[in-house]
Amino acid sequence: MVQTLTTDNGSSNKFDRIVNDLAETGLSICDDFISPLLVNSLALEIRELWQEGEFRHARIGKGTSLQLRPEIRNDRIHWLDTDNPSPVQRPYFLELETLRNYINRSLFMGLFEFEGHFTLYPPGASYDVHYDRFIGSLERVVTCILYLNHDWQPEDGGALKIHAGSEPSSLPLPMQVLPLGGRLVTFISDRFPHEVLSASRDRMSLTGWFRVRS
Ligand code: OGA
Ligand code: MN
Repeated sequence: MVQTLTTDNGSSNKFDRIVNDLAETGLSICDDFISPLLVNSLALEIRELWQEGEFRHARIGKGTSLQLRPEIRNDRIHWLDTDNPSPVQRPYFLELETLRNYINRSLFMGLFEFEGHFTLYPPGASYDVHYDRFIGSLERVVTCILYLNHDWQPEDGGALKIHAGSEPSSLPLPMQVLPLGGRLVTFISDRFPHEVLSASRDRMSLTGWFRVRS
């Protein structure tokens, strides 16, 4: 079933609602986190970087144990330099800064910085069930995935499938979240195993993590 649980962009402040959802369930889905114009501009930047050969096969693991394992994940990524954002990235990074401050003020998580990359899954590409926090590492605390796909339809596939972790949850897990343009999915990185199902068209996002000091 495709999950419809959504934090819509109505009257109350979107940052408050994300923080409340994170506190209550560990997961937030916020539609229209950024404007359609910014979604299109970021998607265009992905297309340009792709054409310039600026994407690499994503690997799994960390540091010296990084491995290319296309049977586990075969998305392509382009790491972003948050200190030198492009003019198109800057407004999104400013929104993330606001979100980071809201989370720190309300949930006392001590989030320190954001690291992230553009991601492109070509048709048929997927990412097997995994946790976002590396074994033996505390750094990645909150995952933030912003989808950049124009007019995504359920039949395009490519859902983010979120599974139950070891803690009990009030969420209807497992659940599938479609990668709709402008939708921001935020979750506590070590709480939910998750996977990316394959799609029939290119699937684009800006994926990243708020980290604590290591
Ligand atoms: C990841 C990931 C989910 C998505 O990059 O670690 O799980 O929906 N992405 O793109
Ligand atoms: Mn992940």
